[in-house]
Amino acid sequence: MGQLELLDQTLLPTSVEMLPFHDLHGVHEAIVSLRVRGAPAIGIAAAYGVVVGLQDAIRRRASTKESVQLATEACDYLATSRPTAVNLFWALDRMKRVIDRNTGVASAVELGNQLLREARLIHDEDRRMCHAIGEYGAALFEEGFGILTHCNTGGLATSEYGTALAAILTAHDQGKDIHVFADETRPLLQGARLTMWELQQYGVPCTLICDSMAPQVMREGRIQAVIVGADRITARGDTANKIGTYGVAIAAKHHGVPFYVAAPTSTFDLSIVEGNEIPIEQRKSEEITCAFGRRTAPEGVSVYNPAFDVTPAELITAIVTERGVIHPVDEQHVRAMVVRNASV
Ligand code: MRU
Repeated sequence: MGQLELLDQTLLPTSVEMLPFHDLHGVHEAIVSLRVRGAPAIGIAAAYGVVVGLQDAIRRRASTKESVQLATEACDYLATSRPTAVNLFWALDRMKRVIDRNTGVASAVELGNQLLREARLIHDEDRRMCHAIGEYGAALFEEGFGILTHCNTGGLATSEYGTALAAILTAHDQGKDIHVFADETRPLLQGARLTMWELQQYGVPCTLICDSMAPQVMREGRIQAVIVGADRITARGDTANKIGTYGVAIAAKHHGVPFYVAAPTSTFDLSIVEGNEIPIEQRKSEEITCAFGRRTAPEGVSVYNPAFDVTPAELITAIVTERGVIHPVDEQHVRAMVVRNASV
């Protein structure tokens, strides 16, 4: 009987620990608590989560009818884990289509095999998309560039290599002399804990700054490009990403620094046009008042904790996808790039 193994990202950078998952609730909890996080990685984990959710039915040799129902319920349940990253729903829709195509299979095992096949496909496609994004993105960086990034968009957040971080890593692999500035990314410090950890592993020259320092670092002329990932991009190019991204985009505009978004086409939601239609996840107040086990605000204070913000297309210089670079960022160019059926 298979199990899903995930690296527990909440423990980084002090501890590298793989966690085994045997049941659906564990996978759901892992996504909610950010043990696995980052838009593409959430989608991939959820796809495997559906397979994990079917293991009990396989063990019991449940009927096809019951297995189909359980797998469908698993998709619906996993879809309640986090609302903003569209990759989650994109992956679960694919899993649901597999379930619909296999209602006539002979057994729970056969359904499980089909679902596992699809989850592996989603995983492999993401790997290829990351590498293609890396190639297109690296071309945007010149020798000597200081590059600012926000949150974490590397292998931890994807299948491997990442999106925005793939562009940075590819430029580094190509021998370009670049220096990365990583925002720490309050409140959960994905930049400090995860991006710095990944950049260190790859030997990319990098400097950690507090989120509030980014405009000053731009003013000092240290940043020649900003590149971030995305959790959902609308048809006109409005982009939801980790809270704080919007402020970085405004600062970049003010300082004449190009602001790039890097994301696979699985992060686009063409069913909505305006960024204000993107559901923004609200998270627990404790993430701000006592994250990492230490109280940093008085008990009982009122807290507002949106996990994401939306950067309007007007502030985005270009969006790097696995199919090429969208520029200028508007509905016509987004649809032209994304609607094609091509896959890498
Ligand atoms: O709350 P998180 O850590 O899941 O947020 C992640 C981000 O905002 C990333 O920038 C985004 O998912 C892109 S990951 C390639």
